[in-house]
Amino acid sequence: MLLEVRDLYVEFRTRDGVAKAVNGVSYGVDAGETLAVLGESGSGKSVTAQAVMGILDVPPGRIAGGEILFQGRDLLKLREEERRKVRGAEMAMIFQDALSSLNPVLTVGDQLGEMFVVHRGMSRKDARAKAVELMDRVRIPAAKERVKQYPHQFSGGMRQRIMIAMALALEPSLIIADEPTTALDVTVQAQVMELLAELQREYAMGLILITHDLGVVADVADRIAVMYAGRIVESAPVHDIYKAPAHPYTRGLLDSIPRLDQKGQELYAIKGLPPNLMDIPQGCAFHPRCPMARDVCRTDVPPLGEVDEVRGSACHFWRECLNG
Ligand SMILES: Nc1ncnc2c1ncn2[C@@H]1O[C@H](COP(=O)(O)OP(=O)(O)OP(=O)(O)O)[C@@H](O)[C@H]1O
Ligand code: SF4
Ligand SMILES: [Mg+2]
Repeated sequence: MLLEVRDLYVEFRTRDGVAKAVNGVSYGVDAGETLAVLGESGSGKSVTAQAVMGILDVPPGRIAGGEILFQGRDLLKLREEERRKVRGAEMAMIFQDALSSLNPVLTVGDQLGEMFVVHRGMSRKDARAKAVELMDRVRIPAAKERVKQYPHQFSGGMRQRIMIAMALALEPSLIIADEPTTALDVTVQAQVMELLAELQREYAMGLILITHDLGVVADVADRIAVMYAGRIVESAPVHDIYKAPAHPYTRGLLDSIPRLDQKGQELYAIKGLPPNLMDIPQGCAFHPRCPMARDVCRTDVPPLGEVDEVRGSACHFWRECLNG
């Protein structure tokens, strides 16, 4: 396994109390594999990713337990200097908002080139050539000319391509893309997602794709991990999940995807709100919203149990859910 997160806990100490953002997450991704992480806002998707990248906001954040094994090494045991090396060269992250991640006063060529100057000791001239090559790779037209432009001179979709180029520059073995297309128009979203998927295959990288959008993952992901209240509630190969979810929350997410053949029909929405992370419900955290909840759900936390060799569900009644 390229990356294996084991039983990770992250909390935030704030004036109002302790927010338990990540509560025992375990997931993994192999080289050449794409893991999609799904879940509503606040479910802990980004915080888990930040812990993996080593960019958690500490304090108020704190890793309260677990291991993050990357190529067999526990990243949580590395010194900051070693950690920084891993972060720079072996893993990279793509964020939703390219404009705030790029430096507005440097040309994109200088920013891309900087990676090669700092990490590979290249001359400015060679680094510039590399920057043009990368811009070609992510299919930015007229790369030779546009390398001299500033981030604000690019459209949102082109900026996101530049972010992808930055992430790819040092050929990392893992990329984490956190809602990489959320800020874009629907058609541009599809193009950027396609590009990312294509490059992931070509470079045989591990990719963790965080998204709200169950629609996009069917085409690009190998596995799906569904998060709720800082836990994985279902983990399975993508096709198994689409065929039949083994968790009522996953079912709710699937039923809320707009479908072309149901135009005009009212869209299903999971009732209620995500839980308060300072006061997560007893038992199954989803029980106040679950149409299948029974007494045991209010008292006993369902473990992420094995549905089969490749699939897990944290529901007491996964069998019933699976059978529709
Ligand atoms: N810097 C922070 N300070 C305090 N609490 C934080 C901070 N970052 C995250 N949290 C807490 O962790 C929770 C989970 O946040 P996270 O960003 O992982 O959610 P998410 O699943 O990525 O949601 P979204 O889909 O909206 O991006 C938040 O709801 C918040 O309570
Ligand atoms: S354990 Fe109970 S409340 Fe939780 S998802 Fe399953 S049926 Fe619903
Ligand atoms: Mg997020």
